[in-house]
Amino acid sequence: MAENNTLVRVQGLKMYFPIMRGVLLRRAVGYVKAVDGISFDVKRGETFGLVGESGCGKTTTGRVILQLYRATEGVVEFDGNDLTQLRGEELRQLRPRMQMIFQDPYASLNPRMTVSELISEPMLIHTRMTRPERDKAVREMLELVGLNPKFERRYPHEFSGGQRQRVGFARALALNPQFIVCDEPISALDVSVQAQIVELLRALQRRYELAYLFISHDLAVVRSIAHRVAVMYLGRIVEEGPTEDVFRRPAHPYVVAEDGAKRGNAALRRFLGGILERADARHRAVERERASAGNGKTGTQGDASLAEPVRNNTACAIRSAGRSAFRRNR
Ligand SMILES: Nc1ncnc2c1ncn2[C@@H]1O[C@H](COP(=O)(O)OP(=O)(O)O)[C@@H](O)[C@H]1O
Ligand SMILES: [Mg+2]
Repeated sequence: MAENNTLVRVQGLKMYFPIMRGVLLRRAVGYVKAVDGISFDVKRGETFGLVGESGCGKTTTGRVILQLYRATEGVVEFDGNDLTQLRGEELRQLRPRMQMIFQDPYASLNPRMTVSELISEPMLIHTRMTRPERDKAVREMLELVGLNPKFERRYPHEFSGGQRQRVGFARALALNPQFIVCDEPISALDVSVQAQIVELLRALQRRYELAYLFISHDLAVVRSIAHRVAVMYLGRIVEEGPTEDVFRRPAHPYVVAEDGAKRGNAALRRFLGGILERADARHRAVERERASAGNGKTGTQGDASLAEPVRNNTACAIRSAGRSAFRRNR
């Protein structure tokens, strides 16, 4: 059972996408192990940061948690319910309590719907609210996210990027959720607007005791907003802990490299980038070998030396190389 203040518990989660071959007889020749056995908790009212380079499996993690993909293996508990075991109506009843915000607020908002329609749609689907009740709620939501309620008849294209992201929040908040997966919510915005959206996230969290899974490739942003962080690499969690611990003693080369870059250490970044690339190439070679041997599905442990997930610790074959390089270059 989950602890009382744990809202979301992820245990041994895997999401493999089959690689299909053949025209008439379609068969899986291997698997993309987008998420490969990860575990973490998100507590009520907390921001849990999930950080890692592009393609490491962050978005897939968010989508599997919300059951937009059904997991290959593992458990996703929400408030004590294992979502992976729920179907149809049971799942539908929990849906309003967990929402998702996307990187591109334009692509995620239907351009043919007005702001009012966009925000009231979830209420229309999940509640019995009357039209006047919904209209009132829409205006309240707009005010809550810092938009003029008079904008309700406008379309998404009439807004700036930051304003569209605010509309996205209003829509996500319409059903009073407890948990929001924020997938790179500010990556597409100007720096000045980013700060405003981060402030909005904090204000909403305080007011509604919201828990966020905050996904980003940007360490600085995650550091500024997350209470705890997990660093993902090739489908696994390679480092996890309270934000300041992870950043004070960065052990995985991804964190070290990004951190070095922030301090203008381009040479160090290039050096560590090279190590990461070689490890990456090696990982893919192992994957290919396994796929061609036809046991892509059962080979779930991967190359244990490469990135064995260890909680509150770091696992990486190139850890020692990364560390000594870090010392040398300082
Ligand atoms: N629907 C899908 N089908 C097949 N492969 C996918 C799918 N979605 C993601 N992937 C693959 O899974 C890996 C992780 O992707 P993603 O979760 O989008 O990473 P991130 O969000 O960290 O950039 C990538 O290699 C990607 O190509
Ligand atoms: Mg992504």
